[in-house]
Amino acid sequence: MQDFPSDRDALQALLDFHVEAGVDLALDETPHNRFAEPAPAKAPVPKAAPAPSAPSPRALPKAAASAPEEVASLAREQARHALSLEELEAILAGFDGCALKFSAKNLAFADGNPEGRVMLVGEAPGADEDRIGKPFMGRSGQLLDRMLATIGLDRTQVYVANIVPWRPPGNRTPTPQEVAICKPFIARQIELASPEFLLCLGGPAAQNLLGLKDGILRTRGRWFTYKTEDGREIRALPTLHPAYLLRQPLQKRLGWRDFQALRRALDGRE
Ligand code: URA
Repeated sequence: MQDFPSDRDALQALLDFHVEAGVDLALDETPHNRFAEPAPAKAPVPKAAPAPSAPSPRALPKAAASAPEEVASLAREQARHALSLEELEAILAGFDGCALKFSAKNLAFADGNPEGRVMLVGEAPGADEDRIGKPFMGRSGQLLDRMLATIGLDRTQVYVANIVPWRPPGNRTPTPQEVAICKPFIARQIELASPEFLLCLGGPAAQNLLGLKDGILRTRGRWFTYKTEDGREIRALPTLHPAYLLRQPLQKRLGWRDFQALRRALDGRE
């Protein structure tokens, strides 16, 4: 068996390393080096051996195992019934159509003030958001708060959500099917919150909400129109995702420009 460090700091560093690498599920008490194990002896194959059956998928409620188009139309139907954000959250919490719900710890529906003039939408919760059950709670959220502060805003004045409200395992990118299934819910959330301004954080939010094809470096900083199903038009600004800015700090100046544009719009100057 592998030797583990015995002091607390080294153990914490090892744990952090695994979490950073996306390992967030413990499957066994002890690690196994599968490469070191001898190959299983080949058993003689009986002549008329039956074909091996396919591995059975992890049992999921029926809705999550149905065709994505069927589930997306079920999601549209259910989202339409919500008459308030509280109702929408309750409906989403009871919705079994997205398999991400079954690996996530919590639904991260929203944070901040739904009465605010600005709504920010990111991609999907990460580990901190999953643990706490609210969007933008980790390092990206801290940077987001600092950026908001530069234009005199905080979470008592803005409303924050994601296009996908459950954490994809290991922080992988949500699949197009997962996004399509969750889209009616975020669309209804925007409609019910009815902000004056929508800030799309990162390419996936901009592309999925505004139907843009170009990448975020081409679309950021330009104003678009988001149309709700009930016919309202909301001014929408794509900007760089704070997680990207943490990896590419030089690009923060672009993010800063976008936030300045938002400030001018809030003040009626743009
Ligand atoms: N990244 C996102 O897009 N959303 C979060 O809530 C956290 C990180």
